[in-house]
Amino acid sequence: MLPGKRILLIISGGIAAYKSLDLIRRLRERGATVRCVMTDSATQFITPLSVSALSENKVYGDLFSLTDEAEMGHIQLSRDADLVLVAPATTNILAKMAQGISDDLATTVLLATDKDVIAAPAMNVRMWEHAATRDNVSTLKSRGVLFAGPTEGDMACGEYGEGRMIEPLEIVTEIEHYFSAAAPLAGRRAIVTSGPTHEAIDPVRYVANRSSGKQGHAIAAALAGMGAETILVTGPTAEANPAGVKIVRIESAREMHDAATGALPADIAVCAAAVADWRPAEILEGKIKKTKGGAPPCLDMVENPDILRSLSAAGNQRPALVVGFAAETDNVLANATAKRERKGCDWIVANDVSPDTGTFGGDRNTVHLITADSTDDWPAMAKSDVAERLAEHIATHFANLREAAE
Ligand code: C5P
Repeated sequence: MLPGKRILLIISGGIAAYKSLDLIRRLRERGATVRCVMTDSATQFITPLSVSALSENKVYGDLFSLTDEAEMGHIQLSRDADLVLVAPATTNILAKMAQGISDDLATTVLLATDKDVIAAPAMNVRMWEHAATRDNVSTLKSRGVLFAGPTEGDMACGEYGEGRMIEPLEIVTEIEHYFSAAAPLAGRRAIVTSGPTHEAIDPVRYVANRSSGKQGHAIAAALAGMGAETILVTGPTAEANPAGVKIVRIESAREMHDAATGALPADIAVCAAAVADWRPAEILEGKIKKTKGGAPPCLDMVENPDILRSLSAAGNQRPALVVGFAAETDNVLANATAKRERKGCDWIVANDVSPDTGTFGGDRNTVHLITADSTDDWPAMAKSDVAERLAEHIATHFANLREAAE
């Protein structure tokens, strides 16, 4: 199944283009959205009208179309896709891809894309076996282009041999494999806390910790990107909602606690929120008045529930992997190591947040991953890269667990 997957299908000009129509249907039956680009020669074999009717989307073809560029620029076409599929991929389009030629919309998109590309070649056996094609295919493979087929069989030209495009259902299976390999956390459920909490003093004022939510939101996005069903419990932040993540917005630590523990059971919990440790013992109903010459109010504080500790001690609902963060200004490693034991979590991501590091609100972070038996120092990197790397470690951890169980 391919629910929600966005596929950009590039149809180049070969007789196998007629199979692309069925391919569009099969992809859509499995929940994928299909947007198509056709080369000029593809339109000699099938009409843009059929492609548009089956994909229920506009078909793109003209690099210099003002309307197309205004609606969806050629760069945006592949940015908005999860995967680019070239089917059929003729010898001509493979040659252009290998050479970096971009003389129409299809080849320009292929050069501009930052997404993986799967090519399903379709050509005569001699063309497929020609040294030029062999070189082009190996160049493309070395650059990471994936190939689905071709296979051996009867050809439209009457010959027999390798070069036939594989059947639409076989292409669909390859695409399903591609996405499941790219989704090592499929079937896992993750809870991520992010952002600050606001602890009300009165209807106007609150106490909070500094936190932009950038790191926590990036972690939720990375886990969801690897296929985990992800619930992001977030305090007030200016961060955009990560795609494919269920968002629960809260304000106070107690609300965050209830939302996070209420989202159990889960396999993974990552507590990246900067939860306020204390809250005013009572929230005043009316705004505290500033009286001229009067003494500033005294706030009576009480301790907030510790969400990380609660998740780590959730008995038979305890996630198999609980990860905490430790924002420290001094003795980063020693304090974080002690915190891992005190909180009962499995891993701690420790970061130095002393003011000169620029970690708070910034886009970069320098962290150390502390587990029961190792400390791994990571170089300074973008918060999104910290998130990806952490998600990869989490995926490896679960792959190891599965292997040990087998
Ligand atoms: O004790 P400290 O706040 O430094 O601990 C940091 C870790 O504990 C973070 O992972 C943070 O999200 C989590 N935490 C929590 N609930 C609290 C306090 C901290 O989940 N009340």
